Amino acid sequence: MAIRNIVTEGDEILRKKCREVSEVTDRIRTTMEDMLDTMHSECGVGIAAPQVGVMRRMFIAEPEPGRVYFMINPEILEMEGSQWGAEGCLSVPGLIGDVERPERIKIKALDLDGNEQVYDFEGFDAVVMCHENDHLDGTLYTDKAQNIRVAEAPEEDEE
Ligand code: NI
Repeated sequence: MAIRNIVTEGDEILRKKCREVSEVTDRIRTTMEDMLDTMHSECGVGIAAPQVGVMRRMFIAEPEPGRVYFMINPEILEMEGSQWGAEGCLSVPGLIGDVERPERIKIKALDLDGNEQVYDFEGFDAVVMCHENDHLDGTLYTDKAQNIRVAEAPEEDEE
């Protein structure tokens, strides 16, 4: 396990579309463990593979401490409703902005064992999932946000 460098806005890596994971191997699991360490080192609630320079469709979300989701080849199946909330991003340090997201989503993904799981999320959980999933297609929250501003509390959750 290791902490990896986080790619920040301006690096074109963050703008590329990630490729599917063809097989959930030990190498994939090691990358995910490193991503988790890296996310924890930055007090984030989510991290996507391109943020550590890995162009694969996978991310981690931890919408509350200890509740960790490892999502490989995620696909949002349904979106419903809408909500506005402030978001930050480990790749855009120091800023937050208001983004509209669905209130509820259904999403499927492979877990670390390569088994397909289907989840229903709502509220902040859904926000984190959508934010991280966007990273896999080269989209940053700042593309969608209104009122982007300096985060007043540096310890505020970042995704
Ligand atoms: Ni982010």
